[in-house]
Amino acid sequence: MSKHRKKFISFVEEAMAKGAKMSQEEIMFSYKGILYPATVCSPETFKALESFEARSDDVFLAGYPKSGTNWVGQILTDLVVTSQKNNESVEDEELEEFPYLEVGDAEKYQRMAKLPYRRVIFTHLPPQNLPDSIFKNKTKILLLLRNPKDVATSFYYFTNALAPLPSYKNWDDYFSAFMLGQMPWGSYFDYVLEWNKHADDDNVMTITYEELKANRASGVKRISEFFDLHLTDEEIQGVVDRSSFQAMKENSDKTHGAFGNVLFRKGDVSDWKSLFKEDHNQEMDTKFEECLSGTKLGEKLNYKKYCKA
Ligand code: A3P
Repeated sequence: MSKHRKKFISFVEEAMAKGAKMSQEEIMFSYKGILYPATVCSPETFKALESFEARSDDVFLAGYPKSGTNWVGQILTDLVVTSQKNNESVEDEELEEFPYLEVGDAEKYQRMAKLPYRRVIFTHLPPQNLPDSIFKNKTKILLLLRNPKDVATSFYYFTNALAPLPSYKNWDDYFSAFMLGQMPWGSYFDYVLEWNKHADDDNVMTITYEELKANRASGVKRISEFFDLHLTDEEIQGVVDRSSFQAMKENSDKTHGAFGNVLFRKGDVSDWKSLFKEDHNQEMDTKFEECLSGTKLGEKLNYKKYCKA
């Protein structure tokens, strides 16, 4: 997983260049009540997505933006590619698509249908906006969650640094938008609530950013077992070593280009403490209590441990 992702990097660079020429009013559009960045998503692609045919051996990663999707995405891709090393079907850069399901042109699903190897697909979409075939075919999904205060913090720096996303005058303005769910890919709280309906599905495995931070080796092993990837202990260790924050940041020139300088920011738990003041804490604690307390995924997030000052 140290290969140069030229297609990925040029796709992101193109989006940055487009975003730089657009006004704040133009950079987002709304589809079925949720906002998306117009540089990388489109209503045509969403329409085409409805008829996407999931395969039973597809490897899906679902996560709200800023939950660590690039991190766990690398782990998953590395696991799958490593497991295929002895087969002929190793990834071919020419055939590669941008890994996020809903990002790209409307024809990408026709190209994806022809891919000759096991597909690793990421998505920020809530389950009700995913194509029916994923649930019908019981395609396995790894659901990645991160505590809402760190997600909000990470998103704040990210959205202000990148031209294709909205910019905010200050943390307070941004925080209001986050709490109202006026974010690219919608509300964090709605996202977790919708996925909570699938918390007991056999084809869904949930993992949190925080548990992976606490024990990456155990997380990688569990992910590998869930997708029935048969790797040796040595191969698993290789995936673990290549997915440390340091290793990924150092390699980001090849994997993410200049975008990597924004993406690999801190990679820590509890950075929210540098931005949240008493009123922000109160507002988010109340919202969490109202929306997610007592739910299975709410429990999984361990709010008391990770979000109480
Ligand atoms: P911070 O902004 O808090 O540093 P996403 O990929 O969904 O956009 O999430 C980005 C977040 O994941 C960023 O969080 C980033 O630093 C963190 N991240 C990326 N790679 C990581 C790694 N190997 N270990 C821990 N965190 C990582």
